[in-house]
Amino acid sequence: MFSRRVPSDLAPNRIAGARAAAAPRFDLTVSNPTACGIPYPDGLLDALADRAGLAYRPHPRGLESARRAAAAEYRRLGVEVDPERVVLTASTSEAYAFLFKLLAEPGDAVLVPSPSYPLFEHLARVEGVEAIPYQLHPELGWRPDLGAIAAASDRVRAVVVVHPNNPTGSFVHPDDAAALERLAAARGWAVIADEVFLDYPLDGGPGGGVSFAAGAEALTFTLGGLSKSAGLPQLKLAWIVASGPGEAVARALDRLEFIADTFLSVGTPVQLALPALLREAAPVRAAILARVRANLAGLRRAAAAVPEVSVLPAGGGWSAVLRVPDVVGEEELTLELLERDGVAVQPGYFFDFPAAGVLVVSLLPEPAALAEGARRLFARVRAHITR
Ligand SMILES: Cc1ncc(COP(=O)(O)O)c(C=O)c1O
Repeated sequence: MFSRRVPSDLAPNRIAGARAAAAPRFDLTVSNPTACGIPYPDGLLDALADRAGLAYRPHPRGLESARRAAAAEYRRLGVEVDPERVVLTASTSEAYAFLFKLLAEPGDAVLVPSPSYPLFEHLARVEGVEAIPYQLHPELGWRPDLGAIAAASDRVRAVVVVHPNNPTGSFVHPDDAAALERLAAARGWAVIADEVFLDYPLDGGPGGGVSFAAGAEALTFTLGGLSKSAGLPQLKLAWIVASGPGEAVARALDRLEFIADTFLSVGTPVQLALPALLREAAPVRAAILARVRANLAGLRRAAAAVPEVSVLPAGGGWSAVLRVPDVVGEEELTLELLERDGVAVQPGYFFDFPAAGVLVVSLLPEPAALAEGARRLFARVRAHITR
């Protein structure tokens, strides 16, 4: 009766089941900035009460004032974006859905990085599209094998880059960005660049602070949004910036407008409020950046006393990747941490890391919670080794 776009087995996995049974005291998986003590300025949401929001005069690409505000965000990155090249969506997830509808026939494919954000598989599948992983190699600082990408199937319509990648934190190296653009232009693919974490440099590295929105060679769609840039996921507003060869961009925008017009999913109040929200949220972004940097430094200091554990370099983002000895397996270790230590972490296999012995922790939690969670995690790892 139901389509294969939705998996037939929707039962929670063992880790989700264990979490549901007992809420962890030290949640090192939190990705919601509104749930971890980040200060939000008084009056931040006042602009949502603008009475102009009582009228409904939708524009499929988004209200011009909002598109202008989103475009102006790229000035921080040194890129001039024409607001006419911006399309608003309710989330980055919706942006992916629109782009997959725009670019791919059912049965076509998109290339997605691996390890990376696990939602790609579902986002593609519900659009009737296959997400084909391309490997990022840890020994190359998470750079891809461009030769393998070049050999991709003719069903591929787009290559997704996550810049910086979640959870490896790696930026797309400028040489790889240029090569991918050339390849995409030659193969007739679009580039989809997810830059939701670009505002959060940690260790930095080549490519940090460089936006794909400046791209000119291939048809490129750069994604950003309030959920990460302003720490406001609940407001549901994101954007797509189209760049590249003029005629392809114009044709893509006309078609994106058609898709957006069938949904008109972004609420009027949040669009009207966008200029004020982006202005007023600067301290939220600064507080999140200070939090993730301090937590990464704290985690590194704590891990320095535990030779069995290493914290991998993290170019940018909200996560840290820990390498741990693969003694009992990632799933068992994650379950033990949940059930015996009250600590929630994510096992590397959730993100398709190429080798076992990886745990991913969020850098968003309150510093005391992260420190205690990490202490318990390190103690559990040591207990296994000395057993
Ligand atoms: C790489 C990446 N892209 C997009 C998103 C989701 O953003 P949104 O809330 O705009 O859908 C996330 C959320 O964690 C993410 O990690």
